[in-house]
Amino acid sequence: MSIMFSKTILYFAFFFLTLVPYFSNAQVDYLIGHDIKKGEELYKANCTSCHKLGDEKKARLIGPGLNPEIFEEYTEEWLISWIKNSSALIESGDEQAIAIFEEYNQSVMTAFPTFSDDDVRDILAYIENPPVEEVSIVEVLDVEDVQKESINTQSLLLIALVLFSILGFLVFIKNSLKKASKIEETIFQGFKKWVLSNLVIVIIIAHLGVLCLIVLGWQSLSKIGISQNYQPAQPIEFSHKVHAGQQGIDCNYCHSSARKSKHSGIPSANVCMNCHANIVEGPKHGTKEIAKIYKAVGYDVDTRSYIEGYEEQPIKWVRIHNLPDLAYFNHSQHVVAGGLECQECHGAIEEMDEVYQKEKLTMGWCINCHRDSKIDLDNPYYHGYNDWIEKHKKADLTVENIGGLECGKCHY
Ligand code: HEC
Ligand code: HEC
Ligand code: HEC
Ligand code: HEC
Ligand code: HEC
Ligand code: HEC
Repeated sequence: MSIMFSKTILYFAFFFLTLVPYFSNAQVDYLIGHDIKKGEELYKANCTSCHKLGDEKKARLIGPGLNPEIFEEYTEEWLISWIKNSSALIESGDEQAIAIFEEYNQSVMTAFPTFSDDDVRDILAYIENPPVEEVSIVEVLDVEDVQKESINTQSLLLIALVLFSILGFLVFIKNSLKKASKIEETIFQGFKKWVLSNLVIVIIIAHLGVLCLIVLGWQSLSKIGISQNYQPAQPIEFSHKVHAGQQGIDCNYCHSSARKSKHSGIPSANVCMNCHANIVEGPKHGTKEIAKIYKAVGYDVDTRSYIEGYEEQPIKWVRIHNLPDLAYFNHSQHVVAGGLECQECHGAIEEMDEVYQKEKLTMGWCINCHRDSKIDLDNPYYHGYNDWIEKHKKADLTVENIGGLECGKCHY
């Protein structure tokens, strides 16, 4: 029996060992033998004012974007002397140093004479293992997709492994219990016995479980069709707070059709390009988010020109406000004829970094406002109905009085 026992333990030891990589981040640092953490600190304190991690050209700041390709281009020794004192290396006549100096319009990189060789190696180790979210800006969309996928399969695998090992462990306990004490009782029988002897507790737990299910079910049922506060993540971190708030851009600049038609519409990427052909960087996300506009329209930031023959890839904004098909809503009727501000129905959009649905958009919401809202008969919208206006001029008319509660006005 003792042989059996140690064999099982061996299996389990092996099994848990295979789990280790999932829980360990230290692996990479260990293999390389340099302190990536320290490298990161040094890099962030000394290099980020001129460099970004990523593609040499696309992530260019004052100096080129830094990425593991530098290790193919230069030797470690060269990189160490460059970073410690690039000017000295250029003066020494080093061809590679002169070439890159020329390429970057002879801007001078700061010298770091206080760094030890190991400090520089730590920084290089950090550049070699960049944090995932900072890699190449242009491929960001693809990278994120891949990442999400791999995280999902990874975590699924992990869950499967954990469940599997728990199962194995239970079987193992069962078997060894059985063998050790020679009790001819299966786990199931033991469980049944335990349930019977703790009946009160079991019943209470079961009741709590059912209660939870009912509450959750009720909550999700009562939310069907109503999506108040819905705030989906958008493909580009476009901020109304920055554009409509801080920059004071008029809503109609981008949502021009709100005044003319039923729909308000979302601006195409070409509208963004009116400004972003020149504004390539934002205060919060740097070039990362704006680069996605370029990817949509096919714009090369380096040459500041459109790529010929590029097939545009429309930005896939996620729709937030959405009435069911049975209801009819018209923007221009409310904004032009009704004279309402966008904010009365959408809230303070100009303060939102990420738009969310402020109102419930239920029938009751529409009707309550129609009951309360007075009609402005001086509104040019009503010109042409002169007889009608004369007749009603003195009365305080609400939308209700002009038929705003009639089913047919809002339902096809
Ligand atoms: C004041 C701005 C500035 C700072 C700070 C700076 N660099 Fe640079 N770096 C440059 C410029 C500009 C170049 C391009 C060459 C030139 O013009 O001298 C460059 C080039 C490089 C290169 C060569 C890259 C290539 O692809 O050819 C490396 C590597 C590098 N820097 C690393 C660093 C590291 C590491 C730090 C921080 C310890 C740092 N730099 C800090 C401006 C800077
Ligand atoms: C620079 C262009 C721009 C300006 C200015 C702008 N918007 Fe937008 N708006 C967008 C874009 C792009 C989206 C889609 C992405 C999003 O939801 O954030 C959007 C989405 C919206 C939505 C949600 C649409 C949906 O999916 O239901 C509302 C509501 C909205 N804007 C209202 C406003 C209001 C009100 C203003 C003025 C205070 C305004 N916008 C100013 C570009 C703009
Ligand atoms: C009328 C000019 C204008 C238009 C049109 C415009 N933007 Fe901007 N956008 C700006 C300005 C100005 C900034 C930078 C603000 C700053 O530096 O504080 C900016 C910044 C940004 C940023 C970076 C935000 C950050 O904090 O990093 C993103 C992303 C962005 N815009 C996306 C868009 C998208 C998408 C559109 C089209 C729907 C668009 N912009 C249309 C003027 C505009
Ligand atoms: C009376 C309330 C009301 C006012 C005022 C209003 N909206 Fe809307 N808005 C809505 C409703 C309701 C929807 C959903 C429409 C649908 O699903 O058909 C909507 C949808 C939108 C959308 C999503 C695209 C679309 O057309 O469905 C945008 C963008 C938008 N509004 C922007 C604006 C802007 C900009 C203004 C001001 C010029 C404005 N809204 C004024 C109620 C309003
Ligand atoms: C914030 C107040 C407000 C809300 C909310 C509102 N409306 Fe209105 N609505 C008005 C006003 C004001 C008018 C009158 C415009 C005018 O002067 O003709 C109007 C007019 C209308 C009309 C034309 C009525 C007629 O007799 O000509 C329709 C249809 C309509 N609204 C549909 C809707 C629907 C559908 C919703 C909900 C999704 C809604 N409204 C939400 C204020 C509102
Ligand atoms: C001011 C506009 C307006 C008027 C007037 C109006 N409705 Fe609605 N109705 C809506 C909107 C918007 C919705 C969809 C939002 C929702 O599901 O709550 C809706 C939804 C409905 C639904 C679907 C209910 C549901 O919960 O999905 C029915 C049925 C309906 N309306 C019947 C009527 C009848 C009957 C009348 C006339 C007595 C009427 N409506 C008048 C705007 C209106």
